[in-house]
Amino acid sequence: MAVRSADMNIMVRAAEKAARALLRDFGEIEQLQVSRKGPADFASAADRRAEEIIYEELHKARPSFGFLMEESGEHKGEDGEHRFVVDPLDGTTNFLHGLPHWAISIGLMRGNEIIAGLVYDPVKDEMYTAEKGGGAFLRRQRLRVSGRRDLSASLIACGSPHPGKPGYPCFLAQAEKVLQTTTGFRRYGAAALDLAYVAAGRFEGYFEYGIHPWDVCAGILIVREAGGRVGFITDDRAFSGDYDMIPKHGLLATNTVLHDEIKSLLRKAVQE
Ligand code: IPD
Repeated sequence: MAVRSADMNIMVRAAEKAARALLRDFGEIEQLQVSRKGPADFASAADRRAEEIIYEELHKARPSFGFLMEESGEHKGEDGEHRFVVDPLDGTTNFLHGLPHWAISIGLMRGNEIIAGLVYDPVKDEMYTAEKGGGAFLRRQRLRVSGRRDLSASLIACGSPHPGKPGYPCFLAQAEKVLQTTTGFRRYGAAALDLAYVAAGRFEGYFEYGIHPWDVCAGILIVREAGGRVGFITDDRAFSGDYDMIPKHGLLATNTVLHDEIKSLLRKAVQE
């Protein structure tokens, strides 16, 4: 059973409080005031309110920590070392369409290291947590990545870049390869949950170009603590670098056993 640190307890409380507000808003989706932020990147009144709640709760408990938040950006902390990386509503498009697949994501970094991560899906009441060296959990149950070794029996998830964005042609080539090679390809629309599902053994892999730190910070640790592997997409689209850094371009997360095979498949698709 997970023994949660004081930091994690604070993160859980903040997520639960924001979740109550988001669930209320989700029930009244048609009344939300939605503003367009950019291509396929929507913010809603609910998103902003949830971020405020999370900020208030975390800041009250850890006033010296910094923040990197989807809506309001960077807040430097006096502490200079710790910062919370927050997506108050991952899966905004799903939320706005009334699709019950979205989550709150809160990561905690110390320098370049992710030391705690929480992904909470309030609709399904699934809370995923991990602390560095302490394992990953769904509620109180320990998580392990899938043991599948056969790519043809695997389920792979992705996020897709928009037409015209860097990585779009690569993505199309890779999507075709994955569809030909695996048992199924999924695009569910919430990166934090895609990562949590790799950790829970529901997906064997997940990849995406062009993600933001707040989408994946918590999920990266949850995958690793469940025995999975996360590689980052570098300039040469090589999925290399298993280090504790927030990716600039994108990432590939897997159940570890299939990592090299999926990586080669994705690279081959781009090179052909
Ligand atoms: C988005 C979702 C989506 C992913 C995008 C993210 P948001 O986050 O996670 O699945 O493909 O890259 O930006 O905008 O809903 O918080």
